Amino acid sequence: MANFRKDFLWGGATAANQVEGGYDEGGKGLSVTDIQTAGSLTSPRYLTYTLNGKKDKIAGAPGEGLPKGAKGAIFDDEYYPNHVAIDFYHRYKEDIKLFAEMGFKTYRLSIAWTRIFPNGEGSEPNQAGLDFYRRVFEELRKYNIEPLVTISHYEDPLALSEKYGDWSDRGMIDAYVNYAKVLFTEYKDLVKYWLTFNEINSALLLMEMFNQGRGISDEAYQHAYQKLHYQFVASAKAVKIGHEINPDFMIGNMICGIANYPGSPDPKDILANRYAWEQNIHYCGDVQCKGEYPSFAKRLWNEHNVSLDITDQDLADLKAGKVDMYTFSYYMSNMVTTHEVEDKASGNFSAGAKNPYLKYSDWGWATDPTGLQYYLELIYDRYHLPMMVVENGLGAVDKLEDGKVHDDYRIDYLRQHIQAMDKAVANGVDLRAYTTWGCIDCVSAGTGQMSKRYGFIYVDRDDEGHGSLERLPKDSFYWYKKVIASNGSDL
Ligand code: BG6
Repeated sequence: MANFRKDFLWGGATAANQVEGGYDEGGKGLSVTDIQTAGSLTSPRYLTYTLNGKKDKIAGAPGEGLPKGAKGAIFDDEYYPNHVAIDFYHRYKEDIKLFAEMGFKTYRLSIAWTRIFPNGEGSEPNQAGLDFYRRVFEELRKYNIEPLVTISHYEDPLALSEKYGDWSDRGMIDAYVNYAKVLFTEYKDLVKYWLTFNEINSALLLMEMFNQGRGISDEAYQHAYQKLHYQFVASAKAVKIGHEINPDFMIGNMICGIANYPGSPDPKDILANRYAWEQNIHYCGDVQCKGEYPSFAKRLWNEHNVSLDITDQDLADLKAGKVDMYTFSYYMSNMVTTHEVEDKASGNFSAGAKNPYLKYSDWGWATDPTGLQYYLELIYDRYHLPMMVVENGLGAVDKLEDGKVHDDYRIDYLRQHIQAMDKAVANGVDLRAYTTWGCIDCVSAGTGQMSKRYGFIYVDRDDEGHGSLERLPKDSFYWYKKVIASNGSDL
């Protein structure tokens, strides 16, 4: 028998911009992802815009904004995979029915900010947008599937990005809080579980991963830490308002959870590893779970001459808006070393030295179920808050043969990670949910590819936008159904 709670929330996760499509329907405004082109394993995704009347583009990590003065624009000679994505906007009933067939207890989805406020701010929300998500939540409830809702998942409104640049402007806080308040009020009886920002720590983490070996300026660190501070304040204010609107809400943070290991027994590597945990993981976790900056924050800021705009009111807001649970994505571990490394991990988002004990996916991500157990136990010990693994999975190329996908590699990956969670639970971790990433194939956030598939459900669409969009259950679909029915025992 597995050790999971009787009411354990098994399910899957997606994000609005990666599944919905209908990017300009129902009164929706443009978001930054709507001007993002497709990339590949070797070439980045670009944000396209005009600057001084001329077409231009910039490569950027998810969550980044436009250069100053730029006007986001869509060009005919570029391909934007999120415009149609997998057309969940029109097919959500069919998709939710398939989730229900697997026995999902929960479905993590995000709301597209620009469906609610086309320009990101204002006093009148867009009724058609509100109605869409109401229909989705009601459809989930019909099957007793608990919605788990991310308020902001890598898709800032384009109008705000043009106005403020990005989250390094304080103006973003009010816009976000206004939007979150509308969601809490509107869906207070339909949604109990909320996450404020997807992978909030990515401002620092992805900046470092995208710029490996290129040297990052103090200015870039200043920018990333300031962005984070305003997001912390926005998140805390939303948590406080959410609790006022419905005291039963469980509102969580969401961290990109990468387990770091020292690359060698060299004490310098041990310390460097500790500092990687502090900078990339605990810095955000501590502010959101403990309501204040950790003692090592000053060291981090001083290392890069960072001086932040933090007011007394901000500090009071952080204290008043602590999250109720710690949620995170987990895909891989990472090796931290102070030594020159010959064998580097390579791929999108991968960093550090290659770990000789682990296998790497086609995109260079280290498969490491033990790292998930380690992460759960370490973090639970730090905060003693309920935890959820809200993303985990294997991005792989699937072969469709005679209407079937035999994805035993995906089953193996998920099986090992569920076993790792089970061990963590046996070791005392209060784990409440597991939502595998991209439970239905969707557009990759990192590369914009469709061919990087995570789903239990195959979607007929390719990297250039061809395909019928037909849905087909893979072998893993029937396997996960068994896992859920047995509450994690029949793996
Ligand atoms: C997480 C994001 O970082 O990883 C998701 O929250 C993303 O949006 C997922 O899709 C997998 O990454 P990718 O690049 O393979 O889509």
